Amino acid sequence: MILSAHGLGRDYPTPHGDITVLDGVDLDLAAGETLAIVGPSGSGKSTLLGLLAGLDKPSRGSVTLEGRDLANMGDAEASAFRGRRMGFVFQSHRLLPALTAQENVQAPLDLANAADAAARSRAWLAKVGLEGRHDHRPRQLSGGEQQRVAVARALAHDPAIVFADEPTGSLDRRTGTILADLLFQLAASNRTTLVLVTHDEQLASRCARIVHMGDGRIVP
Ligand SMILES: Nc1ncnc2c1ncn2[C@@H]1O[C@H](COP(=O)(O)OP(=O)(O)OP(=O)(O)O)[C@@H](O)[C@H]1O
Ligand SMILES: [Mg+2]
Repeated sequence: MILSAHGLGRDYPTPHGDITVLDGVDLDLAAGETLAIVGPSGSGKSTLLGLLAGLDKPSRGSVTLEGRDLANMGDAEASAFRGRRMGFVFQSHRLLPALTAQENVQAPLDLANAADAAARSRAWLAKVGLEGRHDHRPRQLSGGEQQRVAVARALAHDPAIVFADEPTGSLDRRTGTILADLLFQLAASNRTTLVLVTHDEQLASRCARIVHMGDGRIVP
């Protein structure tokens, strides 16, 4: 299993005491699998994704990625591991505004000390159909183009697993479909495991597996 979660739970403190937003989540994912996490707003999808990706720490239970428990790593080690082995796509691109498209794609490659980072980041921009746009800054790109840069950035360092939270949520249906086509096609050709959070049943149905969340739990 590339990713395993056991008895995963997350509580948040509130002025009226702790609230439990995630409880008793078990999940196993094989390398190369595609998984969609669906469910109503507030059901805990983003919370679960954050725990699976080690961006947040669980109140209960454990997550192992490639056999390693992120909670047992120091912050520097965990972030280096994330940088090497994981990619992320968010609802809104989260590109760095001062950097060009190419520099945004190249940043994780540089962090991973990849050889030929400049050539690889250009090649990835070409794969997402933006070969002429490497010198553009995010504000000089459309929303769909910015999301394509985000997809190139998530995949360029050849991560084992990509986490995406509503990757098409800020796009119209047609642009969203093009973006999803790209994400699935590139993940498949790189044999990247994909974990996708979405409200969109049509997008979810493109994944090999779907888990439904309800009220902080996986529901049958
Ligand atoms: N930092 C926090 N502090 C307190 N409560 C939080 C915090 N983050 C999330 N929650 C609560 O946890 C619950 C689950 O939130 P989460 O963001 O995981 O839902 P979601 O399924 O991703 O929803 P959406 O589809 O709207 O994005 C919500 O009730 C939310 O209010
Ligand atoms: Mg969410």
